[in-house]
Amino acid sequence: MLDNKRFLITGISDAGSLAMHAAKAILARGGRVVCAGLGVTPHHGDISDKAKSYLTANEQAFREAVKQELGEDTPICILDATQEDSMVDLAATLGARGLKLDGFLHSIAMDRTIRNKQVKPLLEVTQEEFCDTLGVSAFSLVRITHHLLHSGVLQRGASICSLSYIAAEKVTFHPYRNMSVAKAALERITIELADELGRSHGIRVNALRFSPYLGSKAGTATLEPKDVDRAEEMSPLGNALPEDLALEIAHLMQPGLRITGEIRHIDGGYHITG
Ligand SMILES: NC(=O)c1ccc[n+]([C@@H]2O[C@H](COP(=O)([O-])OP(=O)(O)OC[C@H]3O[C@@H](n4cnc5c(N)ncnc54)[C@H](O)[C@@H]3O)[C@@H](O)[C@H]2O)c1
Repeated sequence: MLDNKRFLITGISDAGSLAMHAAKAILARGGRVVCAGLGVTPHHGDISDKAKSYLTANEQAFREAVKQELGEDTPICILDATQEDSMVDLAATLGARGLKLDGFLHSIAMDRTIRNKQVKPLLEVTQEEFCDTLGVSAFSLVRITHHLLHSGVLQRGASICSLSYIAAEKVTFHPYRNMSVAKAALERITIELADELGRSHGIRVNALRFSPYLGSKAGTATLEPKDVDRAEEMSPLGNALPEDLALEIAHLMQPGLRITGEIRHIDGGYHITG
């Protein structure tokens, strides 16, 4: 059903990344992918040794995971969503390689106010921390779309999906504070873009709220096993699996669907409880 279609997958850090599951589901349905992972870009300039070693380690893990899980021939790009120039480069590189896109997955989130599973109270969050989280985790959806569209890489009728969490709307039993605000912004951006891009280019934009999941770097940085167990008990069907999410992403990537502006729940029914 995705034959001859190509999708950009962001947010792969390793084999456990939710984006990796989505990429596999797309490949299994005949689609092709190009993956953009966080790493060192020419725009980083003078960064600290600590920042450089973090980015280098992330890039190596990304390259290795894509090779192992998706195959050696999978095209990759390096993207740092804090840098406008890196997003410009991404679009230009895809264009130069002739990789037109039928959609993309935004699976990017970062929040420095969550450290060792401790969440900073919103009242203590600085303007810089707030803007950094919002920029990377929400507004990057606008800027990546902007550059892909204006470079002619993102095609008419394409499908865009992003990943969210119920905390965008409700205070959960493990509140995320700063990240919750960013997820709320991501969902509102989804709805505004769905209206703009649906009318202008027939492009669909949807967000998917997923269950708490410990199998990724973001999950292990923010969740305790007891949080996942509690969501499992609260959800009528138990927590959704990454495969459930990947299936829904592949479904929404199908050409020609008239589904847009949706905030979907892939969470075993967690959202109807509590
Ligand atoms: N794990 C969960 O419990 C859960 C639940 C619901 C939604 N989500 C969302 O799913 C998405 C993917 O998370 P995941 O659980 O797969 O974890 P993950 O750590 O595998 O993915 C997060 C990705 O964001 C990328 N990223 C961070 N800063 C970046 C930047 N400046 N530029 C480019 N990329 C950057 C990281 O490199 C990483 O690949 C996130 O939006 C997350 O909020 C996760």
